Parts: sequence; C-alpha cells; structure tokens
Amino acid sequence: MLVLAGVTAMAMASCGGGGGGGTAAGDDKITMGFSQVGAESGWRTANTKSVQESAKAAGIELKFSDAQQKQENQIKAIRSFIQQRVDVIAFSPVVESGWDTVLKEAKNAKIPVILTDRAVDSPDTSLYKTFLGSDFVEEGRKAGKWLVEEFKDATGTVNIVELQGTTGSAPANDRKAGFAEVIQADPKFKVIASQTGDFTRAKGKEVMEAFLKAHPDIDVLYAHNDDMALGAIEAIEGAGKTPGKDIKIVSVDAVKDGMQALADGKINFIVECSPLLGPQLMDLAKKVVKGEQVPARVVTEETTFTQEQAKQALPSRQY
Ligand code: AHR
Repeated sequence: MLVLAGVTAMAMASCGGGGGGGTAAGDDKITMGFSQVGAESGWRTANTKSVQESAKAAGIELKFSDAQQKQENQIKAIRSFIQQRVDVIAFSPVVESGWDTVLKEAKNAKIPVILTDRAVDSPDTSLYKTFLGSDFVEEGRKAGKWLVEEFKDATGTVNIVELQGTTGSAPANDRKAGFAEVIQADPKFKVIASQTGDFTRAKGKEVMEAFLKAHPDIDVLYAHNDDMALGAIEAIEGAGKTPGKDIKIVSVDAVKDGMQALADGKINFIVECSPLLGPQLMDLAKKVVKGEQVPARVVTEETTFTQEQAKQALPSRQY
C-alpha cells in the first residue's frame, strides 16, 4: 500500500486514493492490477510491452492478467485485484457493456480504476477515475475521409467490404460509426458486406475469403486493424487478385507489419492508433493513488500514413 508522508490511510481513502495493501505496510511502492484484453494483434503485443516496461521504469509493481479476449476472465481478474487490495486497477475492457457490478465493487473497496485503451458504456462515470486512449470514432472518420478523397473522381458505385473488430468492443463500434458518418454523404459508397474478424489475422483471412466468394466486385476493404488487413491480403492474393490495386485497402493501427505492407503497396492508407500508453498510464496511476485530480479523458495523439510516409517512418518505427 502507498503510504504518503503525513497522510493517513483513512484520509487517502476519503480523497479517492488506493484501497492499499498491495505491498507490505510502510512500503511506498504502488501496486497496480492490470487486466489486458489478450494477445490478439500486433497492437496488443506492443501495448502489453509498453505497460510492462513503463511500470518497471516507474517503480510500480504490476500484477498482470491476460483475459484471452473473454469478459468473464477480466471480471475474475478485477475481483482478484480487489481481494488482493491493490492500490489501483487498470484495464482495457474487451467489450463496452456489462461492467457496472464489478466496477461498483472496486469503488466500494475504495480502489481507483483507470480505463486504458477502450471505454465502457456505463452512464455512471464515477466508477472510474479517467479514460486514457484513442478517439476511435475519429479514427473511423479519418479512414472514411481518405476513401472519399481517393475515389472523388469515380462515377460508378464503390463497393466496400468491412472487417470489424471484436463484436461489442469500443474500437469496433466507434470505427464503424466514424467511417459510416463520413461515407454516407455520397450514395456511391456502398458497404456490401460487414462482419467481425475479431481483430485477428486468422479471422481476417477467413472472413475475407468468404467475402471474395460472395462478392466478385469488391473495390475497397476497410479493416478495423492491420492484423485483419494482413490476413485479408493473404485471402486476396489466394484469390488471384492484387491487394492495393484490384482491391484498395485502408486499415487502422500502423504496427510494423502493417506499415511494411503499406510501404510494399499492398495496403493503401493506415490510420494510426498508438499502443504506447504505458508512460501516461503510470503517471495517471501515481496521481489517482495520491488522490490528485486527473482529467476525465486523456486522448492519445495520432497521425495517418500514406505509402510514401510509411517508407520514411518504417526504419524508426517502435512497434
Ligand atoms: O483497442 C485497440 C484495438 O485492439 C487495436 O486497434 C487492435 O489491433 C486491437 O486488438
């Protein structure tokens, strides 16, 4: 448990500080329970590394749990963190709904919670201290804006297929919504098929194979992450078509493999979603454990990449 000079555990609890007890009394090391979604993508692997390295650098003891993309595992992990009386809980919710009960348990135990990467849809924002992560709706809009510009001179229908992320997750819901908001302004853009690929390469390939069989006339693939786009590229090549030419591809993340495919001309445009949330997460954790005020929302700064920009960025890309 964190013990601050001149501040009693009682006072700390009343100002929203940690439940405490994660480490021996008198030890001022913060203990964080972190429930990760899983290891579904290159993005996730980079995010896990960032959180683990940053905790070490910040002197925070990390209790890390991998939920293997299952909400029930995350709920179990959070309950176990509460039982262990960690100072702060951070988690990236696999889906948006169904968190109120366990978050109330954390609140009753006076353990502050930080949402990282993904949001929950609970109307009670007092259940968590802050939400650190990307603006996924804006990411979808950026993908849509690129498409509108790319096809501005097209006269016929532009047939789009969409590979959605995990059903019910914030990035899947929001990236879909942001993209639809932009393209709906012009009726020539038609989403002819949209299905989940669960953010994985294997599922992206499988669903794209089915799309290609059902729709011989696909012009564009919008993939909610690079891993699904990379799986889809294998399916497109397997069907004897050229990704990036016969079928234009726009995706989200900008992980190294995605950037390589962009530089190679197999993907046409990538919207960045940064997984390097660790340093900001540790700063926020230190503040909430001390009972300091933090912003309710911290939005990650991100950019976009064309094929030329990917070639330039690749040599120094961190993830
Ligand atoms: O929540 C972030 C998303 O989750 C990333 O875009 C995707 O690759 C990951 O699995």
